[in-house]
Amino acid sequence: MAAAGAFVRFVERMASGETDSPEFPLMPVGQACDMGRDADGAPHIDPRLFDSPEFARNPYPYYRIMRDHHPAFHDGLHNCYYLTRYDDITRCYFDDDGFNTIPKGSSSGVLGNTQLELSGIEHKRRRNLYGQHLVGQSLEARIPIIERQAASMIEGWDALAADGRWARDSHGVRTVELGRAFANEFPISVVCGVLGIPQAGRGRFYYWYNSMMSGLGGSQNQKRGLEARQDLEDYLQVIVAERRVSPSFLHDHAGRPVGKDIISKLCEARLDGDLLSTEEITSNVALVVGGGGETTRGAIMNMWRLLLEHPTQANRVFADESLWDQVFHETLRHSTPIGGQPRHNSFDIEMYGRRIPAGSLINMVDVSANHDERVFNDPEAFDIFRPDLYSGKLLRSGYRKDGRCSHMAFGVGPHLCPGAWIAHQEAVIGSRTLWRHMKNPRIRVESMAKDIDGVSLAPIGLGSIRELWLDYDLA
Ligand code: HEM
Repeated sequence: MAAAGAFVRFVERMASGETDSPEFPLMPVGQACDMGRDADGAPHIDPRLFDSPEFARNPYPYYRIMRDHHPAFHDGLHNCYYLTRYDDITRCYFDDDGFNTIPKGSSSGVLGNTQLELSGIEHKRRRNLYGQHLVGQSLEARIPIIERQAASMIEGWDALAADGRWARDSHGVRTVELGRAFANEFPISVVCGVLGIPQAGRGRFYYWYNSMMSGLGGSQNQKRGLEARQDLEDYLQVIVAERRVSPSFLHDHAGRPVGKDIISKLCEARLDGDLLSTEEITSNVALVVGGGGETTRGAIMNMWRLLLEHPTQANRVFADESLWDQVFHETLRHSTPIGGQPRHNSFDIEMYGRRIPAGSLINMVDVSANHDERVFNDPEAFDIFRPDLYSGKLLRSGYRKDGRCSHMAFGVGPHLCPGAWIAHQEAVIGSRTLWRHMKNPRIRVESMAKDIDGVSLAPIGLGSIRELWLDYDLA
């Protein structure tokens, strides 16, 4: 779930308003700038590119060069390697002995001692501690609650419109910024629900979450992130003490208990016969909420942006709500919120004639795998009906079914995202609820950031969009 440090740096540079660099001019989307060629004609990749705004907004032509000409690219500047082809990355993800997650890097400081750092049997034992409420019948039973949570956030839009900052009404049209009005908080409130965070603590929880997230990636906000995690631990101390004695339960929409909440489960979980400490419980809570907030927010934002940019597909979806599942999967293939995952090779290996010494940092570039033309035809096109993408029930341990491949947005293998099922439900249920509320939704182009031509929308690039301004007709 943690993006590699380089991905965080791109976002920081974009946020600081730095938009161009002499070495790497901003190019029309889909075209790479010229970084020279080998004697045999293969285009070069200059590793300074990875820190440039051009790469953050337009990564795909560069990843295509890497897949075609440098599939095991050595970046001597950042001292790491990049794997960019779908088949290579899936092989490595499944090989937990050969490609381990230790050390995961800068997420560890802020989130604490989590399973992200672990591989093999130790990883498996901890992963099982909290997974049950994120999947299966327990999740199904809570779907009406997720629906209600989405609906109640949308009900709050009238008050938001009265305030006028992130929503406003004019001549029968309401304008909303989907992030502030919905997507930023909705995933956190769903995850708080399954964790069992009391309603009264959720405002503070949201602040701690934001502080921890901004402290990931070894950024300058790390101190604030560490303080937030300590505050979270202090807050959880009291809750943990209570639930060790008297566990609390999750309920379905009819008020029937469907099992203990995740914090109560963690309070009774044992590792090697010992109960988890409050510090270990805090790390697990931080991990679950950290894994599920920004990612699902980004998925919802990118889904709406991409769908509304493709009106023919949007009309099909608006006529048939079951197609939201396909929108979810194609969005995660086309523009996944997470760039990739770091791994370290346990042994010396050789790939494409290049020796990679044991212990090297290898970035598995999921974004590039999702655009590998060896697997997905015309990968830059957004097409919810594409015949080569598997969009059925999420695959637990495989990535190919009935001649179709799944996207790589949730990873594959032992670290496959345990929140994939709940993220899917949140994004699809949230989007359906939004669609039922908004008549004739469309992007308010004049309020959005523009690309270098000054006319088209700024590309999504790596990650997900921060703002999406929509107009819709008031009934
Ligand atoms: C669209 C939304 C999401 C995306 C794209 C996403 C993506 C990912 C990816 C790629 C990984 C694999 C990390 C690796 O291979 O090292 C991962 C792991 C993880 N995710 Fe998600 N995630 C999403 C939503 C969620 C949600 C909703 C939760 C929790 C409620 C969650 C919790 C986790 C956790 C705890 C891990 C660590 C698993 C492990 O190391 O075994 N994620 N996620």
